[in-house]
Amino acid sequence: MRPLLSDRRQFLHTVAGGAVVGLLPDSLPTPAPAIAGNEFLLGEGLAYLNTGTIGPCRRETIKATQRAWETLETNPIAHYGRYAGEALIEDTRTVAARFLGCDLSELAMTTSTTSGMNAIAQGLRLNVGDRVLLTDQEHAGGLHCWQYLARHHGVVLDVVPIPRGALSVESIVSAIAKGIRTDTRVISVSHVFSSTGLRMPIAELSALARSRGMLCVVDGAQAVGAIRVNVRELGCHAYATSGHKWLMGPKGTGLLFIAKDAQAVIRPMAFEEGYSTYSNGNGVVNLPGLLGLGEAIRFLDRADMAQVEGHNLRLRNALADRLRASDNLTLVSPPAGSLASPLLTALLAERFDRTAFSRALLERHRVAIRATHAEFGFNGIRFSLHEFNTVKDVEGAVEAVRRELAA
Ligand SMILES: Cc1ncc(COP(=O)(O)O)c(C=O)c1O
Repeated sequence: MRPLLSDRRQFLHTVAGGAVVGLLPDSLPTPAPAIAGNEFLLGEGLAYLNTGTIGPCRRETIKATQRAWETLETNPIAHYGRYAGEALIEDTRTVAARFLGCDLSELAMTTSTTSGMNAIAQGLRLNVGDRVLLTDQEHAGGLHCWQYLARHHGVVLDVVPIPRGALSVESIVSAIAKGIRTDTRVISVSHVFSSTGLRMPIAELSALARSRGMLCVVDGAQAVGAIRVNVRELGCHAYATSGHKWLMGPKGTGLLFIAKDAQAVIRPMAFEEGYSTYSNGNGVVNLPGLLGLGEAIRFLDRADMAQVEGHNLRLRNALADRLRASDNLTLVSPPAGSLASPLLTALLAERFDRTAFSRALLERHRVAIRATHAEFGFNGIRFSLHEFNTVKDVEGAVEAVRRELAA
């Protein structure tokens, strides 16, 4: 079978070695080696298309984490003590801030997207009757924090439906704008929907929020590491993301951006003294994990996020083109273009159960994907295409889906 795109693994080798190279030309044949034994520990023959749920760490990230942990344990107090640990982690925070396009004074290291979103919501002092505008596609990690404020502090949530199907930047911005009420204080949306992979027009929504004196808060769990993200260009007030998904960092790590001009109104308790990881607002942190995250970010930075995004989208579009013709399956992600992301979601015909279908793909075909979350209310399966994925993975997934649809 003719490969749809060039293989990426050789590219990863080159980048891991520190050389700055572009994507390999599309005409190169797909080399044979499996991921196992190369950059990742993924099982032999496993097509891992589920980075949106949890990403794999590269061997180098694991090594950097392990090295840091082993060094720290040679004399815990010397290394965990404020000043030694602080120097190491500040260096990582600097790298992370540059990666996201913000100042060091705007970037905190966290444990997850959810913890970042919680910090934002609890750091705001919203009053009874203040309103927060959300979409109906928010993941629990970016929703729970607002539901808490609604339940315990009298904050009112307005939910704008974003229907699956033909959409445009204008129609989305106009739907959100129509949802704004006199007491709306915050627009809080995902950058990329975990349900359909729709990429929200954050720059436009930030501009809208700013023009009305509101805050724009973004759940970036499905964006950072998958696509190029520059929070300054987006113009949002706060942005939370995970280290353990598309950044391919250690599990239980995350990043939180709060813009300088919002820091007076978003005041999380943990960052009252500033955003450095060692402060009186923070206890002991997972230093090895956060240092490992630094290694993972440095790698993606060298790989160049514009290139990574291009690769991810080309694979995603190739998968979409191949799946589109299948009976009993309908793509519900946006078509290729500005609303598309490296997540691709398909609706299954009713006679297939999405969870059993995903399990069958893994158990019978060694293709790892995820069934869409129950709360989104549709019978969907979701594919995540990241830089370590190849044309062979796409072809394997297409073949596996076809066989299961025919079973
Ligand atoms: C959009 C979105 N937000 C938040 C989360 C939660 O991420 P974390 O586990 O890092 O808190 C996820 C996880 O899938 C997600 O897709």
